[in-house]
Amino acid sequence: MPNTIQSKIDKNSKIAVLCGGLSSEAEISRRSGKGCYEALQRLGYKNSELVEVDKNIAQKLKDGKYDYAYNALHGKYGEDGCIQGLLEILQIPYTGCGVMSSAICMNKEFTKRVLAACDDIPLAKSVFVRKGQDVKKMTAELTFPVFTKPVSEGSSFGMTKVNTPQELDSAYKEALKYNDDVLIEEFINGAFVTVGVLEKDGKNFATEILEIRPKNEWYDYESKYTPGMSEFILPAELPPELTERVKDIAVKAHEAAGCRGVSRVDFMIGDNGVPYVIEINTSPGMTATSDLPAQSKVMGISYDNLVQIILNGAGLNK
Ligand SMILES: Nc1ncnc2c1ncn2[C@@H]1O[C@H](COP(=O)(O)OP(=O)(O)O)[C@@H](O)[C@H]1O
Ligand SMILES: [Mg+2]
Repeated sequence: MPNTIQSKIDKNSKIAVLCGGLSSEAEISRRSGKGCYEALQRLGYKNSELVEVDKNIAQKLKDGKYDYAYNALHGKYGEDGCIQGLLEILQIPYTGCGVMSSAICMNKEFTKRVLAACDDIPLAKSVFVRKGQDVKKMTAELTFPVFTKPVSEGSSFGMTKVNTPQELDSAYKEALKYNDDVLIEEFINGAFVTVGVLEKDGKNFATEILEIRPKNEWYDYESKYTPGMSEFILPAELPPELTERVKDIAVKAHEAAGCRGVSRVDFMIGDNGVPYVIEINTSPGMTATSDLPAQSKVMGISYDNLVQIILNGAGLNK
C-alpha cells in the first residue's frame, strides 16, 4: 500500500460530513465525524463541513449545495439505508454502502440469509423468532448455550448468553425491549475477531485482522466501552492459512451483501478453527480509538489515507 492515496475527488468540492443523527450511537458518530472532518481539512478539502443530522437534514443538504456527503453516521437512519435513500433522491454522491446493502446488513438475520446462499461462508446455527412465535418450540433444535440478539441493534444492546433453556424466557424478553424480532444463535466458544474491507481502484481488499479479548465472558457493552476491559491483538495471532481464510471470507461476505467502499466484518472463530461470520457493519466507527483506523494503520494506511480511500469510493446507485 503506497504512503499516500491519490485523490479522485476535486479538492474544491463541497463535502458534508454527516454526523450525530437520531440513533443511540449519535455521540460516537459525532466523534467519528469530527475525526473525518479534520482529516479532510488536512487532506486539502477546505470546503468540507460538519453537518449534524436531525429531522431537518433534507433542507440542510439542499441549502448547502453539497457536491458529496461523507457518511459518519452509525445505527438507525444512518447505517440502515434511510440517509442513503435521501442522498439518492437528492443526487448527492455519498461514501460507503448504498441503500440495499445498508438495509440488509442492519438486520443480522437477513445478512445471514444472504450469506447462506454463498459457498464457504460459515454461519452459526440459529433461529429467527418473530413476534408472537413460540420461542421454546423454535429453539428445541439448538444446542445450549445460545445467544439472544435483537435483530437490528448494535453495541451489544439487549444481548444475553443463555446457558440453559430455563433462562431463555427472560433473555428473550430482554431482546424484545429493542426489536420485535429476535435472532437466537448457538454460542460459539472461541475468539472474537473483526476485519475491515476497503476498496482501491475498484478492487476490494481486507485490512489486517484485529482480535479482541474481553475480560468478560463475551464482548458486551461494558467490555466495548470501558477502557482496560478488553485486550487488543493486532494483527491477530492466527495461523497463516486461517488468516488468509478470514480475510477472503470478509471480502466475500462484503461483496455478497452488495457492500460498497467500506465495511467491517465480525467473526467468532470457534475452538474447531471455523471462522463464523456474525455480522457486517456498514458504517464502522472512525473515532481515534475505533477498530478500522487501527486495522488500517497496522498495514501502513494512516487515518488520513483511510479517509481518502473511503472518500474516493463515493457514488450513487447505478
Ligand atoms: N454466536 C455467538 N457466539 C459467541 N459470542 C457471540 C456470538 N454472537 C455474538 N457474540 C459476541 O457478542 C458480541 C456482539 O455481537 P454482534 O453480533 O457483533 O452484535 P453488535 O451489533 O452488538 O456488535 C460479539 O463481539 C461477540 O463477542
Ligand atoms: Mg459486532
